[in-house]
Amino acid sequence: MKELNLKPLGMEERHNKIFAAWKELGEGDVLRIINDHDPKPLRYMFQAEFNDAFAWEYKQQGPAQWIVEIKKLKREAPLTPEQKAKREELKQILKKLHEARPEELDKVKKGAERYFREVAPKELAMAEQELIQEGTTRTEMKRLCDVHLEVMKSGLGAKARRLRLPASHPISICKDEHKIIKRNLRRLKALLGKLKSAGSFEKAKKQIDTLKELSHFFLETEKHHEREEKALFPRLEAHGVVEPPQIFKEDHVEFMAKKKVLSEIAMAQGKKSFKEFLDTVGPVIEFLTQNLKDHIYKEDNILYPMAYETLEKSEWAGVRKKFDAIGYCCFAPADFVKEKKRRH
Ligand SMILES: [Fe+2]
Ligand SMILES: [Fe+2]
Repeated sequence: MKELNLKPLGMEERHNKIFAAWKELGEGDVLRIINDHDPKPLRYMFQAEFNDAFAWEYKQQGPAQWIVEIKKLKREAPLTPEQKAKREELKQILKKLHEARPEELDKVKKGAERYFREVAPKELAMAEQELIQEGTTRTEMKRLCDVHLEVMKSGLGAKARRLRLPASHPISICKDEHKIIKRNLRRLKALLGKLKSAGSFEKAKKQIDTLKELSHFFLETEKHHEREEKALFPRLEAHGVVEPPQIFKEDHVEFMAKKKVLSEIAMAQGKKSFKEFLDTVGPVIEFLTQNLKDHIYKEDNILYPMAYETLEKSEWAGVRKKFDAIGYCCFAPADFVKEKKRRH
């Protein structure tokens, strides 16, 4: 990472320094800029100059100081006219799904289903990314993802299921963790039913203990998201896949907030009436069991296969190294445990 403090510099000097520094950066490198005001005009300049070959991320937004990290992305080879037409077609289908009135939705979904069976996960992600760049907001895109998630669940691309990787591969590790997370989500859902029928703290002692255990488990799974965000997403971004990781990151933030609430409720249950307790814990459990399950589904079937397709084979060793450095939670890969034992 290269850092530039613009504060002491004059206007013209700022400009020259930034572009000189940018020129020297390699693909995937980051230029960190510190400024005394929002460098928005710079962002427009970058857009005009480099199109989408950079990723812009605010690290601090005022009031006295602005910090931005600009990452240099790999310029993808331009699409052939045929590929371009295909992408346009896919974008139209996504748009149609998004704009369909409730009464037409079934028909549109049927048409899309056939299409999604054929399309590569990366193509899907890039089409979504272009829609966002053309003005579809991320919130809209998330809703759209939910619709096409439904479509995919009914007839998912065969490609995704064909991924067969060794257990030590970062994708296998994440998928194995997903299985454990899903198992505990099912336990959490069942627990809510049991809590409701217990009816009082007195009778729900055992269930409250389970709730504490599960809320602790879910807090611990933060490591899993951290590994996705720090080891996998930056690699995707370096290949120009910027928007999909952003959507998953936003999900992570939401999940973290809910997990914290769940843990707080589990620890402080005695302070409320049992009904109040159920009223607060119920929606949190319902949110997590539904949304985290969907998130995992999208990762297993879209994000990971797309990542496999996007990253160079040689990059995965680096991803794995970073995984090991960040560490594991509910689960550690067998070769990692073995290696650790050998060293002790
Ligand atoms: Fe995730
Ligand atoms: Fe995940």
